[in-house]
Amino acid sequence: MTTYSEEIKLVARPGEISFSKGLDGIIAAESTKSYVDGLGGRLVYHGHPIEELAQESSFEEVFFLLLYDRLPTAAELRRFSTQMQQEREIPDEVYALLRDHAARPGVHPMTVLRTAVSALAVYDAQAEVDTPEVHQAQAIQITSKMATIAAAIGRVRAGQPRVPPRRDLSHAANYFYMMGGRPPDEFEARLMDVLLILHADHESNASTFAALVVKSTMADMYSAVVAGLAALKGPLHGGANEQVMKMLASIGTADRVAPWLDEAMAQKKKIMGFGHRVYKTMDPRATILRGYAREVTRRAGTERWLEMAELIEKTMVGKFGQKGIWPNVDFFSGVVMASLGIDPAMFTPLFAVGRSAGWVAHAWEQRQDNRLFRPRFVYVGPESEPYVPLAERK
Ligand code: ACO
Repeated sequence: MTTYSEEIKLVARPGEISFSKGLDGIIAAESTKSYVDGLGGRLVYHGHPIEELAQESSFEEVFFLLLYDRLPTAAELRRFSTQMQQEREIPDEVYALLRDHAARPGVHPMTVLRTAVSALAVYDAQAEVDTPEVHQAQAIQITSKMATIAAAIGRVRAGQPRVPPRRDLSHAANYFYMMGGRPPDEFEARLMDVLLILHADHESNASTFAALVVKSTMADMYSAVVAGLAALKGPLHGGANEQVMKMLASIGTADRVAPWLDEAMAQKKKIMGFGHRVYKTMDPRATILRGYAREVTRRAGTERWLEMAELIEKTMVGKFGQKGIWPNVDFFSGVVMASLGIDPAMFTPLFAVGRSAGWVAHAWEQRQDNRLFRPRFVYVGPESEPYVPLAERK
């Protein structure tokens, strides 16, 4: 008799069946948005190397690039930025919701962000309208409002009054302003833009894939983004940046790095901020952030964090580099964000504020050429079990 797990192989068309735990190496879609070269350590957004965008571009420009597959003209960028600025306010009800929950003990800000973005749909009369115009407008609305929500969550957590958005600042500068209550200086504004640009997209990462699975069912844009937020929260994905900072705090000083790592390795612990499904060399985003870390830690007087991070990097790469385990984006981003004065619990929300651009761009792309995502599982449960009446079960 054929077992179920043999059957799945028989019903599949010849040559189409493949099993890969964690979908490792599986190509599930075509995309024009971004490309990750895992062996060469390159990241490209629609033909533009990430180094070039981090050097030259703004978050608004990168968001336009991801949505429309080309760089904007000056007039288009002005219009797009104005559109984003006009969408910064959030409904009072959404603010009330996050205000009532963000400071509760044990509630993670990503939980509140996920809930508040979901609630945005309740106050969008067009949430269920499925037209290209509405999808594109929502892409901009959600990404713009995500920064306002994330910043407000941070303020509530810190017991500080809300800072309403300003329309005269860039997306990155306004986000910084809403978080800290003062506009950034030139260096801080640039660094915020760089952080959002580096986090904006990353091909078929777990959260973008989660968003696409939801979008492929023809669900609305908010549902897709909420799925992305849910997936980003985990420590194996966007949650790693917060864990890196916790690790540095628990190590404490540079002289404790070596014994701490020895013990962690002896216990076969995963070191947060290292390793990647695709990169088997240095993540280019980590290289860019390490460069900024030097200046921002000098300005903030937090050089010891960078010193510890570089010691960990040296040991880890020496020991595991051959195996393809290198720093990923989350390793240095924690040091950078903490040195900008951001609470570690708010690191992953910042990641989400950037990645929102990628989620909506990919969701929009999926919508234009959709096919439902529906892989198979190999069934490894029993072939046949007797149904024992409830009263007779032990
Ligand atoms: N520290 C130590 N060893 C590691 C690490 C790490 N950070 N990452 C992977 N390894 C080892 C594993 O122990 C495993 O070793 P083994 O073959 O001897 O059992 C091997 O490398 C493969 O690891 P997997 O977890 O199977 O690799 P996968 O491709 O599934 O995982 C992942 C990638 C989840 C990112 C992993 O490297 C990890 O858990 N890293 C730590 C968390 C982290 O930094 N996440 C952020 C990723 S970037 C992002 O999402 C923005």
